[in-house]
Amino acid sequence: MTEPDTFVRWFRASSPYIHAHRGKTFVVFFGGEALLDERFTGLIHDLALLHGLGIRLVLVHGIRPQIERRLETLGISSRYHRNLRITDPRALECVKEAAGQVRVEIEARLSMGIADSPMAGLRLKVVSGNFVTARPLGVIDGIDFEHTGEVRRVDRENIQALLAGENLVLVSPLGYSPSGETFNLGAERVAMAIAGAIGADKLLLLMEHDCIDARIRSPIRQMTTAEARDLLNWEAFTPEVAQHVEAAVEAVEHGVTRAHLLDRHVDGALLLELFSRDGIGTLIAAEPFETLRGARIEDIGGILELIEPLEREGILVKRSRERIEMEIGDYWVIERDGLIIGCAALHAFPEAGMGELACLALHPEYRGEDRGKRLLEAIEEKARSLGLRRLFVLTTRTTHWFLERGFRLVDFNELPVERKSCYNYKRNSKILLKCL
Ligand SMILES: CC(C)(COP(=O)(O)OP(=O)(O)OC[C@H]1O[C@@H](n2cnc3c(N)ncnc32)[C@H](O)[C@@H]1OP(=O)(O)O)[C@@H](O)C(=O)NCCC(=O)NCCS
Repeated sequence: MTEPDTFVRWFRASSPYIHAHRGKTFVVFFGGEALLDERFTGLIHDLALLHGLGIRLVLVHGIRPQIERRLETLGISSRYHRNLRITDPRALECVKEAAGQVRVEIEARLSMGIADSPMAGLRLKVVSGNFVTARPLGVIDGIDFEHTGEVRRVDRENIQALLAGENLVLVSPLGYSPSGETFNLGAERVAMAIAGAIGADKLLLLMEHDCIDARIRSPIRQMTTAEARDLLNWEAFTPEVAQHVEAAVEAVEHGVTRAHLLDRHVDGALLLELFSRDGIGTLIAAEPFETLRGARIEDIGGILELIEPLEREGILVKRSRERIEMEIGDYWVIERDGLIIGCAALHAFPEAGMGELACLALHPEYRGEDRGKRLLEAIEEKARSLGLRRLFVLTTRTTHWFLERGFRLVDFNELPVERKSCYNYKRNSKILLKCL
């Protein structure tokens, strides 16, 4: 049982994510393997919870093991080329059966509402349909893929209308052609195409493995699309992981804000990824996950949240929202996954050829990893570009940090005249100076 204060702290810590995700559209993919696992009920509960928190959900399921089982029963062996099934007419029958069975199974699970379960009293509306138009993949390397197809078009309007009506959209990896044929599609390709077509905020791919660089067996926590493409070219992933990375990259290139690769064997993987600061999976985005950049007006809330505890402790001088707003052009921030985790400001005294480094702060969870140093370097570079030759800082508790980075203690008289007049004698801060 969780201690009440742990629970309260945990719940409060997840509230920024609850607010951030409400009204957003997520496409979630999971393979047919997930259904064969006893943890599947947990996944269904988590999906129902996401829906309950106001997230619009499209679920795309795979059916690979279910097809294989049927083919085996009939004594037919599976044929693959480039990790894609070759679907002959007999295999297509198995594909249709498997898709139907899996879809019905998921719908049944999502319809549960028994007492004493996380879904008690819930009435989820689940809709499946002909959302995907497909065409044959054709002949590749001389091999005819027959009824294996690729996505040609997604019925974006219909999916969006259903989501707006608070329906949960469930999609099987099948596509239909205008001539009435059925095609077997790669489920992660379907998820990618739908996410791109409806402009989803996130594509979440639940995989059978963690996303690791197989060459060095090292997990990857985040990648830009460019980095992911490089790793794909260097064949850093196993074929299964590569397939998912490719789908994630393409989704982001088609406008999905973020793609997440998750190991579905982690209990509550979706919740951990979506409601905790660092998540557990691999994030793929067009821009780096963490950036150091000039601050903008919309960062003020984040800056205040970061510095208020330090102001209360007397480590930083109190700054009002209005003051930060006026001086926002002086600030630099480190943004990590939408949250401000570091900041610093440079106030220029051009007549004295000096700059003041102020308001340097890092979120406690992100200290000791050179971010302070990087903020200092950014401020120094900015000061140099403004033609300032000396940088000073006033501090009560962080003297040694600055001494170790090239500052030296100086006398009050070294301060620019305008700064002297507002020196707070009560704080009795130490003054440190560095020549640039
Ligand atoms: C000072 C601060 C910005 C450093 O950020 P950071 O990202 O942890 O810095 P770095 O990773 O570049 O440096 C870490 C080193 O600084 C040391 N350090 C951290 N705070 C320190 C302090 N107050 N005095 C002396 N050294 C300190 C750490 O022990 C670590 O050294 P070590 O690895 O040898 O143990 C951060 O600790 C912070 O936000 N502190 C509270 C706010 C503050 O004091 N701001 C300065 C006001 S003028």
